Amino acid sequence: MSEKSRPKFLSVLAGEKQSRPPVWFMRQAGRYLPEYRALRATAPNFIAFCLDPEKAAEATLQPMRRLPFDAAIVFADILLIPRAIGQEVWFEAGEGPKLGALPSIERMRDLAPAAGEALKNVGETLSRVRAALDPEKALIGFAGAPWTVATYMIEGGSSDRSGARTYAYEHPETLDALIDVLVEATVDYLAMQAASGAQVLKLFESWAEGLSEDLFERLVIRPHTAIVKGLRARGVTTPVIGFPRGAAALVDRYAVVTPVDAVALDTTAPAALGQRVQAAKPIQGALDPLLLRAGGPALDERVETLLAQWGEGPYIFNLGHGILPDTPIAHVERVLKRVTGKDPTPNFTPKMDY
Ligand code: CP3
Repeated sequence: MSEKSRPKFLSVLAGEKQSRPPVWFMRQAGRYLPEYRALRATAPNFIAFCLDPEKAAEATLQPMRRLPFDAAIVFADILLIPRAIGQEVWFEAGEGPKLGALPSIERMRDLAPAAGEALKNVGETLSRVRAALDPEKALIGFAGAPWTVATYMIEGGSSDRSGARTYAYEHPETLDALIDVLVEATVDYLAMQAASGAQVLKLFESWAEGLSEDLFERLVIRPHTAIVKGLRARGVTTPVIGFPRGAAALVDRYAVVTPVDAVALDTTAPAALGQRVQAAKPIQGALDPLLLRAGGPALDERVETLLAQWGEGPYIFNLGHGILPDTPIAHVERVLKRVTGKDPTPNFTPKMDY
C-alpha cells in the first residue's frame, strides 16, 4: 500500500508521528442515524441483521458516507460468539439481549475451534466493506473479551454483573474453563476477521469494572494476553486495541503486561494516566457519550482539553463508551470538524428506501 493511501489510523497504531489524531466513535453505526433506523426496520431481528452481510455492510458504511471518520467498524455484536458455541441468543425490543441456558463446557469446547467458520457471514461483511471503503480509511473488526461475554452467558442477559462475579467465586473451575473456551473461539473468530479484511482488531472488555486485582489478573489480563499470543502464533500481525472499561486503577498494569498494541480508555481516565500509557502504547478515548449528546460549550471545552492533554500522540480520538441513540448528529459533526478540520459531506441526503 502506498504511503499516501495508508490509513492515518494504522500509522498512529504503528507509532509514527501524527499530524492530528485519527477519529472514530464506538457504535458509530446505529440508532442516532435515521438511515440506520430505516435499514434496521427491514430485518426480522437484530441477530439476523448482524448475520446478513449485505445489510451489515450497508450499516457499517452509512456513517462513513456522511461523516469524516477515519475508520469504519464492522457492524456485528459481541453476542455472536455465544451463539457460535451453542448458546441461544435473541434480542427483545426495549429489553436488550436474552440468552438461553448455558451449554455444557464439553459442547462449547467442541464448537470453539470452528467459531470463525460459524460466523463467516461477518467475514463476508468485512470483505464487502473493505472493497467499498476509501483506501485511506481503516477497517476495524472486533470481539467481546471473554469475561464480558461470559457475564452475559452466565446471567442470561444484561445485569449489574453481580451474578457473574458471584459465579467466579463459587464455581472457579467452571468459569476458568468457560474463559478458556472463549479465548479459543475468539482467536479463531478474530483470525477469520483479519483474513477477511479487518486491519485493526478491538477487544471490548465492557465489564472490567468492580473486579479486584486478583480477579482482574485472572479474568482480564490472562485471557487478553492469551488471545493476542494466540493470534500471533497463527501468524496474524493485525494490531489489537484492548478496552478494559471501568478499570482505570488497573490500566497502568494492563498496558504494560498485556501484549495489546493500544489501549482504549473510558470516560474516567485522568490526563496523567493517558500520558503514562502513551509512553508505552497508543491510547484511544475518552469523551463522555453523555457530553456528546448534551453539546454546548462544555462539549467544546472537553474536546479542547482532550486534544491538549493527549493530542501530541500517539492518540486516537474516540468516546469512552458507545454513542447514545438520541445524540444529535450536529454534535457529532461539530466534534469531527474540530478534530479533522473536515466538514460533513455537503448536501448529504441519506438513503431511506431500503
Ligand atoms: O458501530 C459499531 O460500533 C459497531 C457495532 C457494534 C454493536 N454492538 C451494534 C449494536 C459493536 C462494536 C457492539 C459491541 C457490543 N455489543 C458491546 C460492547 C461495547 C459496549 O457497548 O459496551 C456490548 C456490551 C454489546 C451487547 C449489546 N448489543 C447490548 C447490551 C445491546 C442492547 C443495548 C442497546 O444498545 O440496545 C446490543 C444491541 C446493539 N448492538 C445495537 C447496536 C447498533 C442496538 C440494537 C438495534 O439497533 O436494534
